[in-house]
Amino acid sequence: MKRSGLSRATGGTIMLFAAAASTSVWMGHRTAVAAFTTTSTRSLFSHSRRQCAFRLSSTASSGGGGRVSNAVTDASLFDKTTDKKKKKEKKVGLETNPPKGTRDFYPEDMRMRTWLFEEWRSVAKAFGFNEYDAPVLESEALYTRKAGEDVTQQLYNFVDKGERKVALRPEMTPSLARMVMARGKNGLSMPLKWFSIPQCWRYERMTRGRRREHFQWNMDIWGIPGVQVEAELLSAMVTFFKKVGLTSDDVGIKVNSRLVISEVLTELGIPPEKFAATCVLVDKLDKVPLDAIQGDLEELGLSREVVEKLVKVLTNNSIESIAEVLSPDSEAVKQLRSLLDLCEAYGISDWIMFDASIIRGLAYYTGVVFEAFDRKGELRAIAGGGRYDNLLEAFGGDPTPAAGFGFGDAVIVELLKERNLLPTFDTSGVDTVVFAMNEDLYGVAIQVASTLRTQTGQSVDVVLENKKTKWVFKHADRIGAKFCLIVAPDEYANGQVSIKNMESGEQTPVSIDALADWAKEQTE
Ligand code: HAM
Repeated sequence: MKRSGLSRATGGTIMLFAAAASTSVWMGHRTAVAAFTTTSTRSLFSHSRRQCAFRLSSTASSGGGGRVSNAVTDASLFDKTTDKKKKKEKKVGLETNPPKGTRDFYPEDMRMRTWLFEEWRSVAKAFGFNEYDAPVLESEALYTRKAGEDVTQQLYNFVDKGERKVALRPEMTPSLARMVMARGKNGLSMPLKWFSIPQCWRYERMTRGRRREHFQWNMDIWGIPGVQVEAELLSAMVTFFKKVGLTSDDVGIKVNSRLVISEVLTELGIPPEKFAATCVLVDKLDKVPLDAIQGDLEELGLSREVVEKLVKVLTNNSIESIAEVLSPDSEAVKQLRSLLDLCEAYGISDWIMFDASIIRGLAYYTGVVFEAFDRKGELRAIAGGGRYDNLLEAFGGDPTPAAGFGFGDAVIVELLKERNLLPTFDTSGVDTVVFAMNEDLYGVAIQVASTLRTQTGQSVDVVLENKKTKWVFKHADRIGAKFCLIVAPDEYANGQVSIKNMESGEQTPVSIDALADWAKEQTE
């Protein structure tokens, strides 16, 4: 994976250099070379595209629709075929699919994405969280943990032009830790309650609900060690589920604590430094048989006896039975009991269930872990999170307790679609289409549109071309506008415009001076 990232990066450099070199020949003077060194490759490319008939030769397709292009040549320079031959040649166009595993967001998709983000945002705000962001490109070192996690093996990483090892973020938590560390405890007042909706990149094997890029709602609380934090996070998650119409019959959240494993390992004499790697391996047990990872576990120094004991513990799904295996006074048992009590107080117990097999695949979790799932069991995990008290210390910062969750956009949309809970996104959000019946009245049309835009907050689409009324009504209908405002010579002579209600079909004259009042009436 790493290799292909590198070769793609190199391919990209060669591709752009070829484009620039050919442009300089075409331009026929030295300044073009200077332009290459000073102009951004992107603007150079678009400039060249305008000047020369570039052809993109696509040598391979990635199967699932990803674009694998590796050469751009200036056809006007290098193509020596005769015009006759050229006509016969099949035109090789630009691959129109986005790279495999990634998505284009056309306006209707974008409306759905914005809707989802706003639902997430409103829950985050209701819980008093502040929004933050970080660059999608991070230093690779932020993710090079040695516990064998899938996420670190799925990195989109490459060496940039300054020889820096960088990666597209696969998750937000390391960036958050970096930001907290940069300001330090004194620069930030704890506790922090921060949220973000980053795009994350993972070179995943694609399955239903798993892709190579996804958006992930992150909610994290820093600075508090107790399970009140986890309960608050779980409650925020449930608030979102309810808000979009899901019930506890559709979705459940499994909770566990890594302290359970930690206590079993301590009892069996396994040193704490083996803890993170053991958790990552044990987490794989629901995907692969024990035999497949037995060797790796033994390499970590975990004998068959230890592993068998661990596996036995993981099959428990009541806190009482865990208390029997560990001890009724165990920290893990106490922690889980108080978390479940708090969930009761939040009124979310129907959604929550204890399940000792939930470990999670990320190495940095230290305590409570949780995962939201669809009760039908058809989809991958909807969301997941937990406590990661040691992450900042692992980065060289002060020990600081923290917990949070990540909630992807892919699975939840699948689930909402399946349950018919997604709103429709076919209308554009335009309130009024404004158009002038003739060119002389165009100036009036734009003044009227300005009044509506600035004084009423309406979304207004001005018809920018000379069109027939029939076309305008069709257009207003197609984009789902509520009104069509027509500036016609007769009405304008009386200081009026004509407004058609697109739903009722009723058309009424409205005085231009009273447009703000008319708009206000429509919202009442
Ligand atoms: P994670 O379990 O790796 O945790 O991802 C969290 C959620 O992101 C998943 O449950 C899923 O909804 C979504 N997700 C992950 N990978 C993909 C993918 N390839 N395609 C679509 N959706 C995906 C983390 O990332 C942690 N950093 C979360 C966290 C925040 N823990 C504490 N704070």
